[in-house]
Amino acid sequence: MSHSAQVRPPADVFGRPLRSLRVSVTDRCNLRCRYCMPEEEYVWLPREELLTFEEITAVVALFTELGVEDVRLTGGEPLLRKDLPLLVQMLARNPRIKDLALTTNGVLLAEQARALREAGLHRVTISLDTLRPERFKALTRRDAHAQVLRGIEAARAAGFRRIKIDTVILRGTNEDELAGILEFGKQVSAEVRFIEYMDVGGATQWSMDKVFTRAEVLDHVSRRYGRVEPVYEDSSAPAERFLLPDGTVFGIIASTTTPFCRRCDRSRLTADGMWYLCLYAQQGHDLRKMLRGGAAKEEIRSTIVSVWQGRSDRGAEDRKALGARGTLVPIEQLRKDPHLEMHTRGG
Ligand code: GTP
Ligand code: 5AD
Ligand code: SF4
Repeated sequence: MSHSAQVRPPADVFGRPLRSLRVSVTDRCNLRCRYCMPEEEYVWLPREELLTFEEITAVVALFTELGVEDVRLTGGEPLLRKDLPLLVQMLARNPRIKDLALTTNGVLLAEQARALREAGLHRVTISLDTLRPERFKALTRRDAHAQVLRGIEAARAAGFRRIKIDTVILRGTNEDELAGILEFGKQVSAEVRFIEYMDVGGATQWSMDKVFTRAEVLDHVSRRYGRVEPVYEDSSAPAERFLLPDGTVFGIIASTTTPFCRRCDRSRLTADGMWYLCLYAQQGHDLRKMLRGGAAKEEIRSTIVSVWQGRSDRGAEDRKALGARGTLVPIEQLRKDPHLEMHTRGG
């Protein structure tokens, strides 16, 4: 394959192209957000099963040779992976990656922002659900709010632009902070995205009445700021974007009430090399086994192509179609297979 030619990615049963790969580099996290990791105990992936940086770089190259252009590093909390900037440096050498991003909770960002930027990372997205330290502690069960704020500052100081802030809105927890967080976003020049609470694996406390919906977000925001205009764009990004009268743009990721499965171009690699398509998928493909078993590159690439071509899942739409729904995966099953957890899958 030539290096400069644009590659047309494989398309699935619905014509969705494989364009984006989310790479989880660790399943560990230094927070315990109630919407993601509400339990006291977790079963972790065995360390020897984690892909090395060389393996991750090689797998990512197979995907980019097939047409993937967007690579996002996630976790758990990706900054817990030792020497992450080194991995960024290795990936940044891949000219086929158009967008190399990182999703982090920000706790360790102040220490690492500069090294990540120097290593060639393009973009960071930071999760921040509240501006109140006490509330942060209750929601994440760790006292690290000030560190996250310092992390956001450090990302700016290191020269990152197009920073995004991800805020999961939970009814009864932080729905009174929409305006506060939008104002904070303006102050730090970051685009805020409000995320509906999803009934993904790991969200064992999920119930529909805690979901603060897209419609409610729009209602609250327009009452406070006036007319909210949609920003039309042809994109596969999960966030719908909106414009406020003062020029502020913000997003809503409404996977629960307004799924975007038909535009989904993403798949995800867990830290131990399992490849999952849908966020809600129960089955993955073991790429580590192929890699360590000595499979030829061509063989792995053609497996990826045929798996993607057979893809027909639309997890969030199926969940919505159920009508009444509860938690996706019972806790006993999560303990048996941690791959079903959101924090293993990397969102
Ligand atoms: P950019 O728009 O490029 O910044 O990336 P992104 O929005 O994909 O990245 P981010 O990691 O910030 O994702 C935001 C949130 O969207 C995640 O934390 C999830 O809550 C949700 N999300 C990500 N991928 C999927 C998906 O495949 N399906 C659904 N339903 N939700 C997703
Ligand atoms: N619902 C919505 N988003 C979730 N995340 C984790 N669990 C959930 C959930 N149940 C996402 C949030 C967070 C990111 C790391 O993972 O966007 O910011
Ligand atoms: Fe919170 Fe993200 Fe950690 Fe889950 S992985 S506990 S959402 S910081």
